[in-house]
Amino acid sequence: MDLYSIVLFVHIVGALLLFVLLTVEGVGLRAGFRSAAVNRVLGPISALAILFPGIYMMRAQWGWDGWIVVGIAAWFLIAVLGTGTGIGVMRGSISSRAATFSWLMRVGMALGVVFDMTVKPDLLVSVVAVVAGTAIGAAASLATRRQVLTA
Ligand code: HEM
Repeated sequence: MDLYSIVLFVHIVGALLLFVLLTVEGVGLRAGFRSAAVNRVLGPISALAILFPGIYMMRAQWGWDGWIVVGIAAWFLIAVLGTGTGIGVMRGSISSRAATFSWLMRVGMALGVVFDMTVKPDLLVSVVAVVAGTAIGAAASLATRRQVLTA
């Protein structure tokens, strides 16, 4: 057991928390309760628990590998999209369709990042994984919409 493995543990806890918060957000959208109040507190904790250990591990061992650069960009997009959607939901200024679209895109994007983090591919494959995850999430949101419309 060394410092690096503890830092990796914290990073993975941050990633697990991200998926818990995404799940709570999705259930909230479906069941009609506002998860934004919880996510407003735990979201930044998850984001920081991912970022700072990630930077430590990058500097300690990996450098600016393609999968890390893509991970940083996706982390930023997930944080910005999540914050914007949460504020919109709390103010009532975003439709539930748009909120669901944003949510599923972030779920797909985060899954793409987990692929990159475990497989550690080159830049091109890393970008493709995150873009494909995001696109699948967006497509799932459109399919959900069609189901609702035809139900
Ligand atoms: C949505 C954002 C992120 C998620 C969900 C995520 C998730 C993960 C997971 C699950 C692992 C463990 C992989 C394994 O041990 O096989 C990991 C490893 C790693 N992550 Fe992230 N990560 C994210 C963002 C970042 C960012 C922004 C950085 C850099 C600043 C980063 C740097 C690293 C590094 C260097 C490792 C490799 C550790 C190792 O294998 O020794 N991650 N990440």
